[in-house]
Amino acid sequence: MGKKAELHFEGNVYDLPVITGTENENALDISKLRSQSGLITLDRGFKNTGSTESAITFLNGEEGVLRYRGYSIEELAEKATFLEVAYLLIYGELPTKSELDFFIDEITHHSLVHEDVKSILDGFPSKAHPMGVLSSLVSSLTAFYPKSLDPNRSKEEVNGTIIRAIAKLPTLAAWSYKNRMRQPIMYPKNELSYTANFMHMMFGLPTFEKEISPVVAKAIDKLLILHADHEQNCSASTVRIVGSSHASLYASVSAGIAALWGPLHGGANQAVIEMLEKIKGDGGDVDKYVAKAKDKSDSFRLMGFGHRVYKNFDPRATIIKKAADDVLNELGIEDPVLDIAKKLEQVALNDEYFKARGLYPNVDFYSGIIYRALGIPTDMFTVMFALGRLPGWIAQWKEMRENQEPIGRPRQVYTGYPERLYVNIENR
Ligand code: CMC
Repeated sequence: MGKKAELHFEGNVYDLPVITGTENENALDISKLRSQSGLITLDRGFKNTGSTESAITFLNGEEGVLRYRGYSIEELAEKATFLEVAYLLIYGELPTKSELDFFIDEITHHSLVHEDVKSILDGFPSKAHPMGVLSSLVSSLTAFYPKSLDPNRSKEEVNGTIIRAIAKLPTLAAWSYKNRMRQPIMYPKNELSYTANFMHMMFGLPTFEKEISPVVAKAIDKLLILHADHEQNCSASTVRIVGSSHASLYASVSAGIAALWGPLHGGANQAVIEMLEKIKGDGGDVDKYVAKAKDKSDSFRLMGFGHRVYKNFDPRATIIKKAADDVLNELGIEDPVLDIAKKLEQVALNDEYFKARGLYPNVDFYSGIIYRALGIPTDMFTVMFALGRLPGWIAQWKEMRENQEPIGRPRQVYTGYPERLYVNIENR
């Protein structure tokens, strides 16, 4: 006999089965609640609502645990490569050497995009934010690969769509930057690794792989690994919900990119550096901005602080903070904005307001510091997040499809007018 809870309402008792996950987390199964009782649940921002059962990522916000397919983020960030982690997330197991070689080979040989994509790119003004451009270009892949429109095609064809997404995202991402700079685009080079190829298409450094120090190369790979999945976050939920209508993978990922763009989600990494620049421009008075963040009549928030799920620490931030220190030491960078970041971190970590609410620096607080040190422009930071998050979006989409989940369609509590009569325009 499984666990259950009882709901008592207006003299009736309803049984609610309890579903228990691998790590003993309990969930009330309310899937029959409305048909049995007429009740729905209301949970703004889905703070207490599980939208699915998933075998991809485990996250314990209280204890700061993050695992992909059972492997700890600390171990993966230290020992694995990004494409190995991508394989793990998407197919469920770590690849053997030959599986990984084949996967990398497939990705390498699909990195070129159709020449006509260039004319779409040319249509964007140079001021266009790269995230908007990237979302549009990913959606445009449906036009170049019309078979991808049908997610019910054979497993091999769906896999081809997945490989193309991973292979082409760095090209499209780098091109969105080239449009921003009004510079000629760079084509992918098959002899370069995934990350080096992206940096080559951004900065035109054919010898990037040879010149880059192992510390910096590892830091970029770590960043991508740490961003690769984060269970049912805003963009992953968006990807699943768009895909649940049987929209294509490219359309679903394009929507995920749009969801990630916002400053409360992936856009926070850009917002962090803009905030630090603002504090610097305003004389560097960190205390003033901490006070503003605490003032309820002021909408200002410390960007890069706080998380919906992590209330003690963000395990990704712990790893990335160390990587940021390594990169800055390696490159010998001294940056006044980074000094402000360190001061802000210290003031906020010791402040009662932040302690009481469990507000700690999150992954975006430190990732922006690394991107800045590498010379990546601020409005490309969220694009870097998207590059890292792609395997997670694909894994979430694939799981949702394979589990044949129903279309995502929440209910609501209506609070508008009751029925009223139409009034002719001359009488209003
Ligand atoms: N600065 C000041 N106060 C804050 C902040 C902040 N960054 N974040 C939360 N609070 C306060 C908030 O005002 C509230 O206070 P009170 O209880 O007195 O009303 C309390 O902390 C709880 O905040 P919430 O908005 O109810 O929490 P949430 O879970 O809905 O929001 C969040 C989580 C990440 C959206 C929020 O912490 C935030 O806006 N942070 C800044 C943006 C940011 O860094 N986002 C990146 C998240 S990590 C990357 C990713 O996974 O996307």
